[in-house]
Amino acid sequence: MPADASGTHPEGMLEQLTLLRTAEGTAALELAASLHAAGVDVLAGLDRLRAAVGAELAGPAWGFARLRARARPVFGADADRLFLTDDTLEQAGRPELAARRAARLLTAGDEGVDSVADLGCAAGTDTIALARAGVSVLAVDVDPLARALTAANVEALGLADRVWVVAGDAVELVAAARGGEVAGCAAAVLDPARRAGGRRLLDPDRWSPPWTTVVDLLDRVPVTVVKVAPGLDHDRVPAGIEAEWVSVKGSIVEALLWGREVSTVWRRATVVRGGVVAELTADADPGPAPTAPVRGWLHEPDPAVIRSGLVSLAAAELGATLVDPTIAYLTSDARADSPWVSSYRVEEVLPFNLKRLKALLRARGVGRVTVKKRGSAIEPEELARQLRGPGEGSAVVVVTRVAGKPTALVCGV
Ligand SMILES: C[S@@+](CC[C@H](N)C(=O)[O-])C[C@H]1O[C@@H](n2cnc3c(N)ncnc32)[C@H](O)[C@@H]1O
Repeated sequence: MPADASGTHPEGMLEQLTLLRTAEGTAALELAASLHAAGVDVLAGLDRLRAAVGAELAGPAWGFARLRARARPVFGADADRLFLTDDTLEQAGRPELAARRAARLLTAGDEGVDSVADLGCAAGTDTIALARAGVSVLAVDVDPLARALTAANVEALGLADRVWVVAGDAVELVAAARGGEVAGCAAAVLDPARRAGGRRLLDPDRWSPPWTTVVDLLDRVPVTVVKVAPGLDHDRVPAGIEAEWVSVKGSIVEALLWGREVSTVWRRATVVRGGVVAELTADADPGPAPTAPVRGWLHEPDPAVIRSGLVSLAAAELGATLVDPTIAYLTSDARADSPWVSSYRVEEVLPFNLKRLKALLRARGVGRVTVKKRGSAIEPEELARQLRGPGEGSAVVVVTRVAGKPTALVCGV
């Protein structure tokens, strides 16, 4: 499916999509959506659909309605009009982040941007965000189902007059890019397929398009954004290219490489919490933070701050130090009111030893334990289960290395 690098997709999806875009299909989808919303189970739902719209439409309508219901928490009201597959839904970026990327891309360049190539459009999340930002979009995909989904989606959302959906191979288009343009567009979005056979492809050379095309695009088209795996090695990022890691509610959701005309810094950590966006940036590698003994507060940096290599900037801002040169936990004398970290009051520091830890928690009346770890092989959930006790209190136990030694920190919540 458009979802992965294999280029395969379930038989018949294209035909189902065509059927569902007819007037009868639209009626079948509406009925399926209302049955879903009413909580009707799959067997009863299919029976009712078959009786009302016929066997040919019943299954596809139920399947698409099920996906729309799954998409609603992320896509909001758009979900009720979108055509998605399991794979395209799984690989789709968050629309609010796609809109943010589109806005940044379109303000770059000396003359602004009026056309963008979306090189691997899948079901069209980026294409939709770009079209809504007001530019013409050339939506390209090697996969016919992806192209059909994008075409259906831009039409459903009233954006078809700004979008051209075409078959094409991004590898070839990028290799032919000249004069800062690709496929006649002044800017590009590339979001390579990074899964195959349901599994993540850790090696960027196996993405589709592969890493060579990513580098080629960044080199040839200066107004570009490429979505990459959050685990991408910093050494891969070409000089002069800004890498950005974005987290939402404490989890990394995307990593981006910005083309030369869009890049303004070396690295950026974007932290989104409660709808508020905070950005930490550095013009050059800030190097490591200093290390010092554990003090009264432990701070856990947001993963976007860690992945972007900016822990030392957060440390400097908080007057904090690392507990160990190899571990991204910070410590200081005060709670930090900062988007970059979550703070825990340190109550006990002891060498890691299960028996001693258990006894200490019992003595403190702790019954509920949350375990966090970094630089340790323990299984947090298993340890939390072992440490659970009859007490009324709760604690966060952080298992990590402090100055090279396995250590447990018992923290207040
Ligand atoms: C990760 S998805 C894109 C997701 C999309 N940006 C979104 O947010 O919904 C990657 C897409 O690239 C397409 N693709 C993979 N290799 C390609 C190539 N060489 N040329 C064009 N498209 C390609 C896949 O078919 C797939 O639809």
